[in-house]
Amino acid sequence: MESIILEAKNIKKSFGGISVLEDVNFSLHAGEFKTIIGPNGAGKTTLYNIISGVMKPTGGQILFRGKDITGMAPYKITNMGLSRSFQVTNLFPNLSVHENIRLAVQAKGHGSFNIIRSSSSYREYIEKAAEIMEMVRLSGKGDLMASDISHVEKRKLELGILLALGGDVILLDEPTAGVSAEEVPELFKIIEDVKNTKEKSILLIEHKINIILNISDTIAVLQNGVLIADDTPENIQKNERVQAAYFGGGALNG
Ligand SMILES: Nc1ncnc2c1ncn2[C@@H]1O[C@H](COP(=O)(O)OP(=O)(O)OP(=O)(O)O)[C@@H](O)[C@H]1O
Ligand SMILES: [Mg+2]
Repeated sequence: MESIILEAKNIKKSFGGISVLEDVNFSLHAGEFKTIIGPNGAGKTTLYNIISGVMKPTGGQILFRGKDITGMAPYKITNMGLSRSFQVTNLFPNLSVHENIRLAVQAKGHGSFNIIRSSSSYREYIEKAAEIMEMVRLSGKGDLMASDISHVEKRKLELGILLALGGDVILLDEPTAGVSAEEVPELFKIIEDVKNTKEKSILLIEHKINIILNISDTIAVLQNGVLIADDTPENIQKNERVQAAYFGGGALNG
């Protein structure tokens, strides 16, 4: 397999003495699609918060391209090429769909807004934004206010913003949360298209087990803050510990 791009080493996290993550270790290889599953409260979002710099771990290290990024400011981590989505919608509601994406394109690699900007680079931003809107199936919705689009369109827009930020590693936290069953396949089609560009290494948190068995290269299972398995979908399905925890109980079905 390709080289390791992201690595968690002995990540521990406790809140007020209560342990939420216990010595979590995993590697994400360049181009890999890894899904993290686990019941509510298992520590999945906390792990993302630590990887993306939103929280400091109680112990352990996060390495990105071999560099220790543990506890680094989130914007610095984003600028280095690791971007995440949030479980809660994170858009500029009073800007248009196009503007939300274009601002993310402009922010890429700059970190701040530059007033002096040539018209040619501005045109490039607009073209890149249009390309991304097509990728996330929002072409034709560019002039609508982000506050006025439907829930599933907001989720597409979040994906678009994430792509516009241009990270090599993207972290998705339940991108289909709140989306109706009929609309889930289209969202996953977009995620699959992103995977198929082979430009991104992807970490996904998702409960919909049937879909993730097909799309993932590897699946990591987090239970009560412990990573109990990290393997191919085939092996995960055969893993007795995982079966006992999930497949038998049906906790992750649907
Ligand atoms: N800032 C915080 N302060 C105190 N406890 C927290 C904090 N953030 C998370 N926790 C606790 O850590 C545990 C793991 O939470 P986390 O949000 O990481 O779970 P999750 O696996 O993402 O769950 P879900 O599937 O519901 O999103 C939970 O018990 C939660 O209450
Ligand atoms: Mg969560």
